[in-house]
Amino acid sequence: MRKGLVVLSLFFGILGFAASGIGQNVDPQACGQTLQTNCTRCHGLKKVCDKLNQANADWKGIVTTMGQRGKLSQEVQDAVVVCLTKSSDPKKLVCGK
Ligand code: HEC
Repeated sequence: MRKGLVVLSLFFGILGFAASGIGQNVDPQACGQTLQTNCTRCHGLKKVCDKLNQANADWKGIVTTMGQRGKLSQEVQDAVVVCLTKSSDPKKLVCGK
């Protein structure tokens, strides 16, 4: 019984790990939508695009600042950071080329 529990929790542990891995898979369409909705209220995406051309931009810091300015939810901020840092091609996503 005990052993079964250990195996079971191990199983769900792995499942959870796999699911979080899937969560990192960036959906370009959802990202475009999220950026369009939340990041173009005060300026165009060109600002974001320009910044993507700079290496080592501190996206977490930038998005936190923008989030405070625009009162964006933590979920939105996290999603934007993932979109800008984990996409295979963030520039294509933001700059449209
Ligand atoms: C409430 C208004 C507002 C919203 C919403 C907003 N921004 Fe900004 N953003 C600004 C202002 C104002 C500036 C120019 C001042 C500055 O650079 O800090 C700016 C500048 C920037 C810059 C340039 C910063 C730099 O260091 O060169 C980037 C990149 C940026 N925004 C990205 C974003 C992203 C990504 C989002 C969506 C999560 C977003 N912004 C949402 C107001 C906003």
